[in-house]
Amino acid sequence: MHSILLFFYIFCLAWAKDIIPQYDAELGVTHVFVTNITIIDPSESRQQEEYSRLQSPLHAFHRYKERNLAETKRWRDWYKKIPKKQRSIVESTVKYTRKLNTVEHLFETNEQLAHEIVKHGKQFYNISQTELDQFIKENEKKGVNTDKTSVSQAMKHFVRDWADEGYEERQDAFPCVLGTLANMSRTSEQPLRVLLPGAGLGRLAHEVNVLGGFEVTMNEWSMYMNLAYRYLSSLSSANGKIFHPYIDWWSHQVTTADLQRSVSFPDTLVSPSVLLVEGDFTTVFAEDAGKYDVIVTLFFIDTARNLVSYFENIHRLLRPGGKWINLGPLLYGSAPFLQLSLDEIIALTEHLGFKFQETDASCGDITIPGMAVRGKEVAYARNGKGLSKNAYQAQFWVARKN
Ligand SMILES: C[S@@+](CC[C@H](N)C(=O)[O-])C[C@H]1O[C@@H](n2cnc3c(N)ncnc32)[C@H](O)[C@@H]1O
Ligand SMILES: *[C@@H]1O[C@H](CO)[C@@H](O)[C@H](O)[C@H]1NC(C)=O
Ligand SMILES: *[C@@H]1O[C@H](CO)[C@@H](O)[C@H](O)[C@H]1NC(C)=O
Ligand SMILES: *[C@@H]1O[C@H](CO)[C@@H](O)[C@H](O)[C@H]1NC(C)=O
Repeated sequence: MHSILLFFYIFCLAWAKDIIPQYDAELGVTHVFVTNITIIDPSESRQQEEYSRLQSPLHAFHRYKERNLAETKRWRDWYKKIPKKQRSIVESTVKYTRKLNTVEHLFETNEQLAHEIVKHGKQFYNISQTELDQFIKENEKKGVNTDKTSVSQAMKHFVRDWADEGYEERQDAFPCVLGTLANMSRTSEQPLRVLLPGAGLGRLAHEVNVLGGFEVTMNEWSMYMNLAYRYLSSLSSANGKIFHPYIDWWSHQVTTADLQRSVSFPDTLVSPSVLLVEGDFTTVFAEDAGKYDVIVTLFFIDTARNLVSYFENIHRLLRPGGKWINLGPLLYGSAPFLQLSLDEIIALTEHLGFKFQETDASCGDITIPGMAVRGKEVAYARNGKGLSKNAYQAQFWVARKN
């Protein structure tokens, strides 16, 4: 992995791969039949499972500062390995110790944000301080390490989705999706239903909502993302929050001022008319066959453990004639059941009952001659001022359910 961008995208995938099986296994509990009169209430069991899925992320946001300061402490220790004479040159020219001190201080600023996310999360999900304290105590007694990367990634999505700095990246990705939707005939009396699975922090969902004439549902499985999103939704003034998104990775920096810069968010407020449905896309919409006019997958399909289940589910949820709009790469994570090339995805989904439609030339160059799929260079979670410019040849298509 030569880039943090790739690194973060992979983590995004890793969640789906490594945790959902366990999640499924837990789900299985709700289907256990008991021979005596003890009846397991599925809704209660599900609540229990949702509850424990929430505690670990809360714990991780809660420990934001400690986890990051443990890292800066390592950096300090490594720095001590430099011979004294060299260190005094480094100090007199670049003031490296001051840089470490400053970054540690900025982690404290970020911690305020992390704690606000926890505070709002507890309120929103009705978790008491006592419950959370108890969970944290038990977890820490067991020596469980919190997931620092998922916290950092969720917070970096404030930039991708809800800060001015993310504008360029969004402009890479959004116009063809939004243009395709904008061209669909609809009225405010008869809005089209759009579903966006794996929506992250949901900016695209909100841009669809802004077009008007759409009833927008976003879906996200990660409780790290969902906690961040619920927090965003609670904010009532634009650009009222700041944090320092880049201090946890010192590679590819032009200046230390860039590394330490703050970003404010949200550039615009979250709309309550976009619905977030939490949970695994392949299970939470069990009752919704044929419900949606459009499904938009942005940087999503390659998170699948089982791509066929994703495709079948997209097909099942669309009404006949409904459209599937996709934009994203094919970056498979740690343990996919199958890893298909683009041509194989086209063949498979055509067989499942999708017809790929012609799309506008502005949406990229045709990737495979004779097939209606276009490729376009799109960045993901890029630090715009960094020296690393990793991007994907994201694939765009519009396919109609026959
Ligand atoms: C690469 S990220 C893209 C996020 C967002 N679409 C964006 O472009 O910023 C993929 C997202 O899909 C979510 N995800 C993975 N598997 C999922 C599933 N089975 N159901 C719902 N969301 C899932 C991940 O948690 C992650 O937020
Ligand atoms: C009924 O099931 C519960 C829970 O598994 C168990 O503790 C209990 O012994 C069982 N009772 C009988 C009569 O089998
Ligand atoms: C939290 O509790 C309130 C009041 O009892 C309730 O209205 C709300 O739906 C609950 N929220 C969740 C996420 O369960
Ligand atoms: C929307 O429709 C206009 C007019 O037909 C067309 O020029 C444009 O390319 C369409 N946009 C997309 C993204 O398909």
